[in-house]
Amino acid sequence: MTGRATAVLISGSGSNLQALLDAATEPNYPARISLVLSNRADAYGLVRAANAGVPNVVVDHKAYGSREAFETEIDRHLAAAGIDLVCLAGFMRVLTPGFVERWRDRMINVHPSLLPAFRGLHTHDRALAAGCAVAGCSVHLVRPELDDGPILVQGVVPVLSDDDGATLAARVLTLEHRCYPRGLAMLAADRVHINGGRATLVDEKPGERVILHPMLRELSR
Ligand code: GRF
Repeated sequence: MTGRATAVLISGSGSNLQALLDAATEPNYPARISLVLSNRADAYGLVRAANAGVPNVVVDHKAYGSREAFETEIDRHLAAAGIDLVCLAGFMRVLTPGFVERWRDRMINVHPSLLPAFRGLHTHDRALAAGCAVAGCSVHLVRPELDDGPILVQGVVPVLSDDDGATLAARVLTLEHRCYPRGLAMLAADRVHINGGRATLVDEKPGERVILHPMLRELSR
């Protein structure tokens, strides 16, 4: 397999990891998944990695006395695997500014909101409470502030009148699975140009950084 050596950091189900694993099997995809690292031994994503034949490792944060010591161990695994790019995919540990700066412009995250709205947790309940007509997800470069950083791709879904947090989350997740591989491909192909807080792409096609939920296209006719 060819492509930039990429690690995916997870804590749970790993459905976004699966989307990245699947995308990386496509010929000409510019990244390959070389390592999956979980801070939890019971993360189902570890099974997904094993099924795909991808090396996987558990680094349990509870075994370390400080965030720095935990991250030093993560860095050791990333270096040993020759990792070039890092994807956070439901990785539920806040990373120190030191770690984030070491991976500056080489580490991306998927967040289940249309950033910069609704940083942090419970994004879907907050979008519903705010009365939003659309919701979505963002793939962004990671910066030291939580859920901050230049946005590469956003996915947009409609909010329906009978939605609750669970139904909205499920709809957004289907778009996360489409947005994340697209965002990683942009980074791995060296197409991302960063100007302050803004990312643009080399040879960017209009609309390339947006994915609309199929229902939204139907409903907005
Ligand atoms: C996703 O909704 C992601 O946006 C958030 O955590 C969830 C992870 O889901 N950060 P999965 O483990 O990829 O299924």
